[in-house]
Amino acid sequence: MLVKYIQAVSWLAVTCTANWTPSPTSAPEYTSPAYIKYSTVPGFFLQDDNATVPGTFDYTATNFGLVNRTYPTNHECNDSFTQWQKFKHFVDTLNVRSGKDVDYKILFLGRHGEGYHNVAESYYGTPAWNCYWSIRDGNGTSVWADAKITPNGVAQAQIAADFWASRIKLQKIPLPQSYYVSPLTRCLQTANITFSQLPLSPLNPFVPTVKELFREGISGHTCDRRGNKTYIHNAFPRYHIEAGFSEEDLLFKPLEGEVPTDQDIRSKTVLDDVFGSDSHTWLSVTSHSGEIASILRVFGHRPFSLNTGAVIPVLVKAETVSGTPASTAMVPYTTISTCSTQPSLPTATV
Ligand SMILES: *[C@@H]1O[C@H](CO)[C@@H](O)[C@H](O)[C@H]1NC(C)=O
Ligand SMILES: *[C@@H]1O[C@H](CO)[C@@H](O)[C@H](O)[C@H]1NC(C)=O
Ligand SMILES: *[C@@H]1O[C@H](CO)[C@@H](O)[C@H](O)[C@H]1NC(C)=O
Ligand SMILES: *[C@@H]1O[C@H](CO)[C@@H](O)[C@H](O)[C@H]1NC(C)=O
Ligand SMILES: *[C@@H]1O[C@H](CO)[C@@H](O)[C@H](O)[C@H]1NC(C)=O
Ligand SMILES: *[C@@H]1O[C@H](CO)[C@@H](O)[C@H](O)[C@H]1NC(C)=O
Repeated sequence: MLVKYIQAVSWLAVTCTANWTPSPTSAPEYTSPAYIKYSTVPGFFLQDDNATVPGTFDYTATNFGLVNRTYPTNHECNDSFTQWQKFKHFVDTLNVRSGKDVDYKILFLGRHGEGYHNVAESYYGTPAWNCYWSIRDGNGTSVWADAKITPNGVAQAQIAADFWASRIKLQKIPLPQSYYVSPLTRCLQTANITFSQLPLSPLNPFVPTVKELFREGISGHTCDRRGNKTYIHNAFPRYHIEAGFSEEDLLFKPLEGEVPTDQDIRSKTVLDDVFGSDSHTWLSVTSHSGEIASILRVFGHRPFSLNTGAVIPVLVKAETVSGTPASTAMVPYTTISTCSTQPSLPTATV
């Protein structure tokens, strides 16, 4: 389990071009126990600043939150470079100079567009949703089991697509080199709308990897039960489904939920998998509010809740350290609280 795939080369060899990409090399091996320690590197994005209010933050009005600042490597950059090109040079340089056990990556964390389950929770109110409606597949007119995105959710994903297109044109933003997506339909759809229309490089095409553990908190709600592998493959034939992905959803359990500490443990498991196997620096992960909150906890990032369809990048430092991490024993799912009679609709407030 080793993070660092980038050979420390002479740092003078780094040219300040917008296209420079480190070449992957084989990972050295650790013989003693080692684990990956994550931290967020603050000071580069509005979202890592305590003064930024998540509820009113608009990633499309703020260049994805990239702070307009100078970097120690700016003197190597062409004056015509955009903020994103200068930032890319800075991050590439960090990686070249950081030694074999430290790796920096930028993860664009995107939440799916509005799904039918989001609409139903608002319609019924959270208490009635949690205890009665969420454990059903739908109500006869709306289906929210493995919820699809609504027309509003499609529009939110299109905003993300249009914003990426504008950043490519105006900022020459580094494009994701790898894409990861939750196996739930709302994320499979959102990633497709966001990235399938962009002018991507043939070197890094949009072929996302579907990863089981980037799914939402496994709550016992039918919206968090995924489709089978055959369905996912048929609906999104160009997606790559990770090795070992089971045909049926083996993690969902009716009326039982994963506990939050276990969600963080499995988030770290999937992040260790990604950081330990992917030599790329610029990654996209399309996931969920609860799961992104968990990923941010693993990274030591401040809490930052995303609106449906929103995207935030985070700069993450991953360090391979020797030793054994604190206990990661998982506990059984717990029974969720339900009610047997249909609650009345919330009273409309005027
Ligand atoms: C941000 O807030 C957290 C929690 O209140 C605090 O621990 C942390 O030091 C703050 N960070 C900065 C840079 O002020
Ligand atoms: C940086 O400046 C640009 C151009 O003035 C602006 O569009 C962008 O929102 C600024 N970014 C932040 C994070 O304030
Ligand atoms: C900066 O980059 C632009 C566009 O690539 C190029 O036309 C220009 O010659 C460069 N300037 C310098 C000083 O390298
Ligand atoms: C089902 O729920 C949706 C909101 O999710 C609501 O608009 C619709 O009226 C409900 N249908 C019935 C039959 O109550
Ligand atoms: C992917 O998105 C494109 C563009 O919005 C759309 O035309 C296509 O039908 C979508 N494919 C799937 C499988 O949803
Ligand atoms: C997979 O799911 C689809 C519908 O979502 C269903 O029609 C099909 O029978 C399932 N396949 C298997 C092998 O269970």
